[in-house]
Amino acid sequence: MPTKQEDQLTEQSTERLVEVVTSYSGERRNLIPLLQEAQKRFSYLPKEAMQGIAHSLEVPEVEVYGVATFYNQFRLVPLGKHHIRACMGTACHLAGGKLVLEALERELDIKVGETTQNKEFSLERVACVGCCMLAPVVVVEDDVHPKMTPFKVEEALIPYRYETQPGGSENEQSSDESHA
Ligand code: FES
Repeated sequence: MPTKQEDQLTEQSTERLVEVVTSYSGERRNLIPLLQEAQKRFSYLPKEAMQGIAHSLEVPEVEVYGVATFYNQFRLVPLGKHHIRACMGTACHLAGGKLVLEALERELDIKVGETTQNKEFSLERVACVGCCMLAPVVVVEDDVHPKMTPFKVEEALIPYRYETQPGGSENEQSSDESHA
């Protein structure tokens, strides 16, 4: 059952979606730019956005969904509170970035492109983030974690997990509860 806040977000998303869709002419070649624009506005592709785009371009919804799932650049779920970007540029890849990414997937129990159930973390693979000398690199929010290894993953996430909430509770507690 959606919360009141989620209802409000959906309403806002729908209103903004109208702006996005009407700013493009209804031609099929606009599908990808339109998906990109929608994602830029919402940070992911809500179902309503994809339906609106399908309607506007007069293409089947399944086709829009197919394109959205085919390209890595599109996200179908909202970002978590802490957005993790694992660099898979050439330098990071050669320095073991794939192993770091796999360690992050294990540690968070999600796959790349997903968000944890408690909405605390989302994981994305990105191209070069511009600090190849520090490869392999993981960026959490705006914090660059240099020279990562699979063994450093758990420790690197601790400050975000134990971030103190207003009122003194800790994120880790809610994370544990969500797995109970
Ligand atoms: S390839 Fe990862 S920072 Fe450049």
